[in-house]
Parts: sequence; structure tokens; C-alpha cells
Amino acid sequence: MNAYHDLIVRATEARLVAHAPYSQFRVGAAVLAADGRIFCGCNVENLSFGLTICAERNAIFHAIASGAREFTAIAIVADTREPVSPCGACRQVMSEFGDFTVLSATLDGRIFEATVGSLLPRSQTGILDRTERST
Ligand code: THU
Repeated sequence: MNAYHDLIVRATEARLVAHAPYSQFRVGAAVLAADGRIFCGCNVENLSFGLTICAERNAIFHAIASGAREFTAIAIVADTREPVSPCGACRQVMSEFGDFTVLSATLDGRIFEATVGSLLPRSQTGILDRTERST
């Protein structure tokens, strides 16, 4: 059994409360903090489509708002044939908080495992790394 079984169960539960009336595509996520706490999120869609938030970012923002800063893993669950791949925005937000494990699972138990760093290489490189400064 995968070491992150509980995390996947929590993401599966979070998926059930997703607000996805436009796509009908419900996603759940659960992030495991270094202190052992688990924070969940689901996708929350909006009539103004661009305001939609993915399950992954919702889970991470939930954790941050609860005082967690270091993460061991995030699990993502959707009802798909292949495990879903987190969007670019979620990868960028994850990379803000380190290089942890990313597990994406289908309802029937297919699992893709990666790391934040492998999904978004060089995410911090060069940003704000100035060679000249204005005076
Ligand atoms: N979605 C997520 O929440 N996470 C993903 O990894 C893939 C996509 C959501 C966003 C939108 O509400 C719906 O799934 C369709 O893209």
C-alpha cells in the first residue's frame, strides 16, 4: 500500500465537496505538512471562469492560512482514466513552498508520483537575482 494512502483518502473526500457546476469536473487535494497535519482543498469554479481556483492551490492556501509552511506531499484525486497533471499556476504556487512529493490518483487507484521540482524545473532561478540595482 502506498505510504500516502491516508492523504489520498482525504483528497478523495475533499473532491466530494468541489464546486464545479461549469465543468462538472471535481478535483480534491490534500497536503501533508511537516508537522503531520493534513489540509484539504477542492476546486471552486466561478461564472467568471478565470476566477476558478484549483483544488491544489485551495489546499495549499488552506494550509498557509492555518500556519503550516513546510510540506511533505500533496495528493490530488480526480475521476479520470489517467491521473491529472497539476496546472502551471498550481506548480508555481507549490514551488513557493519547497520541493515535495506530488501524488496524483484516479478513483480506481492509478497513481502518478513526481516531485514539485521535476514538474517545474528552475522555478526560482534568476527571479529577483539582480546584477544591477537602481539607486
Ligand atoms: N482542476 C483542478 O482543480 N486541479 C487540476 O489539477 C486540474 C484542473 C479543476 C479546475 C477546473 O475547475 C476544472 O478542474 C476543469 O479544469
